[in-house]
Amino acid sequence: MEQLIDLLTLEIQNAFEAAGYDRSLGRVTLSNRPDLCEYQCNGAMAGAKLYHKAPVAIAKDVAEKLADSAVLKEAAAVPPGFLNLKVSENFLTGYLEEMAKSPKFGLKMPQVPLKIVMDYGGANIAKPLHVGHLRSAIIGESLKRIRRYAGHEVIGDVHLGDWGMPMGLVITELKERMPDLIYFDDAYEGEYPAEAPFTISQLEEIYPAASARSKADPEYKARAMEATYKLQKGVRGYRALWNHIREVSVADLKKNYSSLKVEFDLWKGESSVHELIPDMVASMKAGGYAYISDGALVVDVKEDTDTKEIPPCMILKSDGASLYNTTDLATIQERMALYHPDELVYMTDKRQELYFEQVFRCARKTKLVEPDTKLTFIGFGTMNGKDGKPFKTRDGGVMRLENLVQETKNEMYQKIIEGREMSEEEARDVADIVAISALKYGDLSNQASKDYIFDMERFTSFEGDTGPYLLYTIVRIKSILAKYAGQGGDLKEVRIRDAAGDSEKALMLQIAQFQTMITAASDELAPHKICAFLYELANDFNHFYHETKILSEEDETRKRGLIALLLLTQRVMETCIDLLGFDAPDKM
Ligand code: ARG
Repeated sequence: MEQLIDLLTLEIQNAFEAAGYDRSLGRVTLSNRPDLCEYQCNGAMAGAKLYHKAPVAIAKDVAEKLADSAVLKEAAAVPPGFLNLKVSENFLTGYLEEMAKSPKFGLKMPQVPLKIVMDYGGANIAKPLHVGHLRSAIIGESLKRIRRYAGHEVIGDVHLGDWGMPMGLVITELKERMPDLIYFDDAYEGEYPAEAPFTISQLEEIYPAASARSKADPEYKARAMEATYKLQKGVRGYRALWNHIREVSVADLKKNYSSLKVEFDLWKGESSVHELIPDMVASMKAGGYAYISDGALVVDVKEDTDTKEIPPCMILKSDGASLYNTTDLATIQERMALYHPDELVYMTDKRQELYFEQVFRCARKTKLVEPDTKLTFIGFGTMNGKDGKPFKTRDGGVMRLENLVQETKNEMYQKIIEGREMSEEEARDVADIVAISALKYGDLSNQASKDYIFDMERFTSFEGDTGPYLLYTIVRIKSILAKYAGQGGDLKEVRIRDAAGDSEKALMLQIAQFQTMITAASDELAPHKICAFLYELANDFNHFYHETKILSEEDETRKRGLIALLLLTQRVMETCIDLLGFDAPDKM
């Protein structure tokens, strides 16, 4: 389907032409003055210079041609030369009915879908997920869903941090505590046990202990570096132990991500490409791109047009070890070979922006990607506490993601159990669903690059610009529809065309903007546009609901029309929250 705004523009362009003016003047925008009109066109102002005529005279000429328009109910020429437009209700309900019948509400699909690899999540194994990883997971998951909905093919990869020094640290600490483990016996040639010699909670305690000790004890640190080296070189026992670390961590990560409704197609990581590194390095050298500087192997990536200093991209450390850059570059090479994507998108804290600039330039220069492969970095801001500083636990420590989710669920439970007739168990289930909306909407409703304040009280409120408010609205609609069905109403036999009163017009106009909004959210990688649309839609619905008789409407035809509008509102809202990555309960 065409976007509503494009259909309006077409109508106005035809009128400009019919009145003897250039049709390109007929561009329509949303009204700046919703109290006066729904849409507007400022083309007569621009036309004034062109035709040496008063803008309002031009606007009047155009308005005359629109007198019998089937699309517009009103086109008023107002000084100094605006065209104030109101959409015909008949046309609007026809448009909505078409939306209701079409797949994806008539959203146009791209002629050639893009293939996109999205790198988000970025958890590190053997370390608990902390709130810093929350944003990458939430924003990435939503963008993946949005771009899939917009018709593109998206592959989501968690790209685990599973290969560097942290692995060496964990192995060193394990050896310290359990030196007799078979994995450390160089002479052992048999099979290793299937069961890991540690649990996830032990692992999560081991890493911070090892990391702290390596900072205080240089000899310990040297051993950890040695262990990292041995692991990367492929020493059997170390690899077997590392496999356990990865398995135990991934099982736990999957549990955590799925509680947030975050799903990955690929569970690859830095380690997945280690075998590609030697050839990649050799070809960077052979191509004359990489050279030794202070013992390290680097590629220059600065450009003449740079206004700030862009340091060279380091490929190998002076001891020959690979680093974060190396695995990212090799991963680009692998992704190109396996999936031939049109675009690679990365989502991390915006502090990694310079790093990705270096990596992208290096990948282009060394021809790891095609000249037209798009490389996109989305840097997000920090989640702060109410004090404006990065979010911490009450005692100042790093908040684990699991705990944050649990605290939000508890808070939501308190709110739901208060004053509601629900069993404790039911309230728990509902609270779990609503809590995810509170967390995710609190994050996604901000422009990703901005910092935001995590405010439990506000995020979990049923009023205002929050996830729970949206869900509450959906639940309200569901309950009206259920009552209608309970009274013998047939939800299949309803037509929006039979509604079209004044009180529902704002709601109808808002729904009609769905396609424009989704297109912008997908093209601009901007989930916050879906949030803004939803909030407005929920407000329009609630306003309508308070003004209008629905189930008590005596005119059966009109009642059916209103029910059809409710159904469409619910479907659009549920589609949008799914794109943000959360669900609505049936009751709350
Ligand atoms: N593991 C990294 C971190 O915790 C994030 C990974 C982001 N993705 C990437 N391809 N570098 O900071």
